[in-house]
Amino acid sequence: MFPTHRPRRLRSSETMRRMVRETILSPDDFILPIFVTFGKGVKKPIPSMPGCCQESVDEVVKTARETYSLGIPGIILFGIPEHKDETGSSAWDPGGVVQTAVRAVKDAVPELLVITDVCMCEYTSHGHCGVVEDGEVLNDPTLELLRKEALSHARAGADVVAPSDMMDGRVLAIREALDSEGFGNVPIMSYAAKYSSAFYGPFRDAAESEPRFGDRRSYQMDPANRREALKEVALDIEEGADIVMVKPALSYLDVISDVKENFDLPVAAYNVSGEYSLVKAAARLGWIDHDRVMMEVLTSIKRAGADIILTYFAPEAARLLNA
Ligand code: PBG
Repeated sequence: MFPTHRPRRLRSSETMRRMVRETILSPDDFILPIFVTFGKGVKKPIPSMPGCCQESVDEVVKTARETYSLGIPGIILFGIPEHKDETGSSAWDPGGVVQTAVRAVKDAVPELLVITDVCMCEYTSHGHCGVVEDGEVLNDPTLELLRKEALSHARAGADVVAPSDMMDGRVLAIREALDSEGFGNVPIMSYAAKYSSAFYGPFRDAAESEPRFGDRRSYQMDPANRREALKEVALDIEEGADIVMVKPALSYLDVISDVKENFDLPVAAYNVSGEYSLVKAAARLGWIDHDRVMMEVLTSIKRAGADIILTYFAPEAARLLNA
């Protein structure tokens, strides 16, 4: 009790604060999401995500080198294919954009971890994450497509596959497919608690994956639910997930914290496009200090319990941390 206890004593200088700091960010914490497109020499800025681009494979290789040299351990690839169709068939094309990028990056920067996002929405003409029949997204038929997609990524050399579709049973389906083809050592990072969020807005521009009709509420989680996240995570772990993800991050710090407390797997959190764009927009207007807000955001995600942070801020934050 005051005056015996004066917490300010431990805040008196930067050295003192460093000594008692509980959360320390490092470039090791980050994974950089990259949007891969077809063509050559393409680096097309994404207007709603300043600093992010759609990149052709040759450019992705350059970005991968730079990312690794900043001390960031990995990237996650999203594909923007040349052709979309009803079933999203280019998702498992061995010559598809993601598969080609995986091979090129593993060849150029073998130490960098290459994670692939496994989902149908970027490849289907209707923009939904699975097979659509009579306006409904069908669960079980989608699993077959996800198996094919994940396998094609593993064959290309992906270090980790990350299903983001939210179909029931997909982790087990993918695990079985990988194991049966000799990829028993490829881990699955599941988007276990993925919410149906308006914070994905800029990503859908970037990945050209906005659904043509309806929304994703019949498969992604209701933002109002907290306990349900524990159920989703438990199921994915039972099915064989190696890393579990909460997404988005900022409006779901309570969920990150719950997952960390209740399970012993590494926890990933996705600092999504809308969370990134809000900071960029406010900084452009001169309303906030960009770098300080960026670091505070990333620190809060780690403090909540994330072991891995997927973030478009990765290069900028790593540069600051390395300075
Ligand atoms: C899709 C996918 C989405 C994101 C990652 N994977 C979008 C969605 O579900 O609509 C969002 C990432 C972001 O907003 O940064 N499979």
